[in-house]
Amino acid sequence: MDIKKVGILGCGLMGSGIAQVAATAGFDVTVLEQEQKFLDKGFAGIEKSLTRMAERGPAKGGLTPEQKAEAQSHLKGTTNMQDLADCDIVIEAIIENVEQKRKTYAQLDGMVKKEAIFATNTSSISVTELMTATRRPERFIGLHFFNPVPMMKLVEVVKTIATAADVYETAVAFGTKLGKVPVRTSDKTGFIVNRLLVPYLLDAIRAYEEGVGSITDIDEAMKLGCGYPMGPFTLLDFVGLDTTYYITQVMFDEFKEPRFASPPLLKRLVLAGWYGRKSGKGFYDYADPGKPAPGRFV
Ligand code: 3HC
Repeated sequence: MDIKKVGILGCGLMGSGIAQVAATAGFDVTVLEQEQKFLDKGFAGIEKSLTRMAERGPAKGGLTPEQKAEAQSHLKGTTNMQDLADCDIVIEAIIENVEQKRKTYAQLDGMVKKEAIFATNTSSISVTELMTATRRPERFIGLHFFNPVPMMKLVEVVKTIATAADVYETAVAFGTKLGKVPVRTSDKTGFIVNRLLVPYLLDAIRAYEEGVGSITDIDEAMKLGCGYPMGPFTLLDFVGLDTTYYITQVMFDEFKEPRFASPPLLKRLVLAGWYGRKSGKGFYDYADPGKPAPGRFV
């Protein structure tokens, strides 16, 4: 199957990033949002990111000004789901809520051509559970991207027990055409990356709670000792503490293993509304964004 037209559901951080990479790769992209103001916000983020790419230039993995303009010409926003009717693939990146996703897929299923592939960018919800909201289970997959999508080279391609072999191969090839490195995985909660990353992040919080080191020392240790681009607390704030907490709940519910359970401090920060960078405060305080100040919680 030849993919030419790509539909994206949601123009938040992940949806806008996926739209940007698909448009940069030459696909015609239509992004659906509930309200114009969400499209405006997402497209402003895309513009900012494409500008950074163009400033970097192709020699350093960025873009030429022509490539930036070409990418922009492939992007369209809409608030009308009917505009996705002739898409070859639709990638959903809306809020991590099972009921809302299932409702959206059921609606979409009646509108989009039956040969189209449906993909979800969910990081923790069962792809199988979402697939059953449609009448195209064999054409339903997971495509899990990483934040920031324009920079992170990986996409996890997730198959369920119902995914048709040719659909899966089309999705893997599509991942490569997006300029990503696809890895193959199946519908087990957390897939590959979060299965390994989440216990590591939670262990960092536990180590801090036990007085092993300060927030900055644990961050420095993992950056300089292991060569990670960000320490665990910087990464937690970057991903979002609410998002991480949600993932831990789904993973703990699935596996019932202590390594996936949220430490009390993570829950307290989420209850306080301290979600990380996006709310201005998490493990660090971002009042001065250039110089995040670590909190003291123990
Ligand atoms: N668009 C375009 N360019 C961007 C960008 C974006 N969104 N974000 C960063 N850049 C560019 C910067 O402009 C800069 O370009 P330059 O070298 O030409 O100046 C370059 O990337 C480096 O950026 P910074 O100097 O600001 O900072 P870093 O060197 O730390 O790089 C980073 C930023 C790429 C985000 C790096 O810190 C990193 O890789 N961090 C780890 C991110 C990570 O682990 N993500 C996965 C999270 S898990 C997840 O998403 C799964 C989910 O299910 C939870």
